Amino acid sequence: MKSLNILFDDVEEQSNSLAAIGPRLQPVKSFSVFDHPICLAHPLRLTASTWLTHIPFGMALIDILQPGVLVELGTFSGVSYSAFCQAVKELRLGTRCYAIDTWEGDAHGGYYGSEVLADLRQHHDLLYGDFSELIQSSFNDALNRFENGSIDLLHIDGLHTYVGRTEGTIRQL
Ligand SMILES: C[S@@+](CC[C@H](N)C(=O)[O-])C[C@H]1O[C@@H](n2cnc3c(N)ncnc32)[C@H](O)[C@@H]1O
Repeated sequence: MKSLNILFDDVEEQSNSLAAIGPRLQPVKSFSVFDHPICLAHPLRLTASTWLTHIPFGMALIDILQPGVLVELGTFSGVSYSAFCQAVKELRLGTRCYAIDTWEGDAHGGYYGSEVLADLRQHHDLLYGDFSELIQSSFNDALNRFENGSIDLLHIDGLHTYVGRTEGTIRQL
């Protein structure tokens, strides 16, 4: 099984070569919402989350990067993840999406019950089930599902201390 560090090392290798990734990651000198109108879309998933104000940015990011594979670590009620999926669907991209979470909570944000995942499934499965998967797992246990270098966009929104423990590698992203 791959360790998280190996996964991040892959990402580091890729980010060391901007040319290999392509012009989409070149510095953006100006940004116009008219170039990425998806960021003005009405979000279909609005539940309590600190991510609500980032939704337009998240949707624009999908349009700019057009990732082949998107993985989110830490999904909770799915505000960020559903925004990504909504953008993928409305932009008619071929992106495969994966959300990884124990859906149990953590020491930072608190613990919760099975109703959170059940509610998200009701929203998600019908709208996005043909290109997206909700994987109920710890981050580490889910890693062996992904080939090295196969993730184009990794959104890390898990336990802050967990992110802190891996900050050396995350900084290289
Ligand atoms: C801050 S919330 C995610 C918020 C979400 N992105 C949103 O848009 O509202 C963090 C989530 O990470 C999950 N989590 C934390 N550590 C984890 C781990 N090691 N493995 C799997 N899930 C984890 C928790 O269950 C929690 O649901």
